Order: sequence, then structure tokens, then C-alpha cells
Amino acid sequence: MVGDPASGEAVFRRCMACHAVGPGARDRPSGPHLNGIIGQEAGTNPGFNYSNANKESGIVWDAETLMAYLENPRQFLPGTRMVFPGLSSEQDRADVVAFLAQFDGE
Ligand code: HEM
Repeated sequence: MVGDPASGEAVFRRCMACHAVGPGARDRPSGPHLNGIIGQEAGTNPGFNYSNANKESGIVWDAETLMAYLENPRQFLPGTRMVFPGLSSEQDRADVVAFLAQFDGE
């Protein structure tokens, strides 16, 4: 499924209570920043207090793993601290992944 980054920006509003992305984005107590998340090993933002489940998952975030995590975070990654029910719409998930893919690790 092809994601649309512009639509994904709107979907990302549902993530912004906890996450920041884009120029100057920083970890917050509520969630790690998501710059450079595509291709990144799970749980590796220095200084963010991740769950052991996340840190020890061995996951590398790519379109496939993000699509699965975002559908049902606690099912895909039991023990995750991310208290978010998930995005039931596959299109919404593809769109938010396309949106996140625009931001590198800087
Ligand atoms: C972790 C994405 C919504 C809190 C993560 C990670 C991703 C992500 C990719 C893994 C980060 C990493 O391994 O470095 C998203 C997206 C959301 C969303 C796209 C919206 C669709 C939320 C919301 C909250 C939240 C609403 C707070 C209520 C967290 C926390 C973690 C996390 C605390 C760390 C999990 C852990 O250590 O187990 N999120 N998230 N997220 N997210 Fe979210």
C-alpha cells in the first residue's frame, strides 16, 4: 500500500501528545522523538527511558515493522510502554509511515 506523506501529517496529530518529529525534535518524557526512525534499531535514542521489551526486541524499524507495530503496539511488542491502541486503518498506517520517512536522524 502506498502511503501519502501529506495525509500522514494529519494522522501524526494522534501521536503528538507523546512524540515529536522534524527539525529540532527532542525526546520527551512521554515518548522518544522519531527523527531517523526508518532503518533505526528499536530503543536506541540515547537517554530515553524505553521499556526492556522495546530495547531487547531486536526490531529494526522499517515500513513492514512499523505497519505491524502501529496496528496494535501491545500485541506486536508485548510489554511496550507505548500506551496507544493502534491505528486500525491500513491507509492511515501507511500514510504516517510515509510522513515519518521524510525526517532523517538530525
Ligand atoms: C515508541 C510511533 C503514538 C508513546 C514508539 C516507537 C515508534 C512510535 C516508531 C518506537 C521508537 C523507538 O524504538 O525508538 C508512534 C506513532 C504514533 C504513536 C506513529 C501515532 C500513530 C504514541 C502515543 C504515545 C506514545 C499517543 C503516548 C500515549 C510512546 C512511548 C514509546 C513509544 C512511551 C516507547 C515505548 C517503549 O519503550 O516500549 N512510538 N507512536 N506513542 N511511543 Fe509511540
